[in-house]
Amino acid sequence: MIKVTCSSDACHPLRHLYKRLLCLKLLKMTDTKEMALNKVGEMVAEDYRTADVFKKYGIDFCCGGGKTIGRVCDEKNISMLELIEALSKVGQSSIEGEQDFNSWPLDKLAAYIEFTHHSYANENLLIISQYAQKVEKAHGQHNPEVIEIANIWRELSDELSIHMKKEELILFPFIKKMQRALSENTSLAGSAPFGTVQNPVSVMVHEHDNAGSLLKRIALLSNNYTSPKHACNTYRVLYAKLKEFEEDLHRHIHLENNILFPKAIVLEKRLNLIPSPAL
Ligand SMILES: [Fe+2]
Ligand SMILES: [Fe+2]
Repeated sequence: MIKVTCSSDACHPLRHLYKRLLCLKLLKMTDTKEMALNKVGEMVAEDYRTADVFKKYGIDFCCGGGKTIGRVCDEKNISMLELIEALSKVGQSSIEGEQDFNSWPLDKLAAYIEFTHHSYANENLLIISQYAQKVEKAHGQHNPEVIEIANIWRELSDELSIHMKKEELILFPFIKKMQRALSENTSLAGSAPFGTVQNPVSVMVHEHDNAGSLLKRIALLSNNYTSPKHACNTYRVLYAKLKEFEEDLHRHIHLENNILFPKAIVLEKRLNLIPSPAL
């Protein structure tokens, strides 16, 4: 049981850890002793997203999850206030649902996708790989599906990393260039290194389908991310993070497949960039 109290009505009762942690601003100066009594493993069990924070600080939330926050901070010489601050940022709600991406200029949308979804994917491909390897090693013998999940994750990770690099280095810069040409009323004739923008878009859409299929196989193998009853914290965190990754990738692909790419094709036509067969 996490022992955090807050006198504000708005903070009571709080079912989710992050909401409680948001109250910590009020508690920082007075209740850190109480916070120190919370157990690391219980916090992760209540909100898997705290696992990344503990991992970042080298705190074992799995087999060593029975230790309190106060104890691990003492043992590792970590500032408890700093740790609480990092935990308080977990789960701060995304504003994505409130955005009208359809009205954004394409250069802004491409930059947003790169900054938000590519950054998230790059960071979490690595983190999830580490969790998958750990679970594969510890539970693969009795739960062989985790070995297959780790193998699929390696394939997905390799493919997605290259895919995002292609977008960042080739396709997105061209889309940004087209948007600039539109606002400056200049021509870009002949400057596309790939003929028409439809070509890289087709490749990207095909690769999205591949990534989606790999994630579907993981969802099937994991019984839709349901960890077994005996699962340790790392096992549970792995499944929770895989689910979170899939949800983020769906939003990411939606922005590209349904907004950015079709509008880039229309914009190219508008700029009259498609080379004629005679060229
Ligand atoms: Fe992307
Ligand atoms: Fe993509």
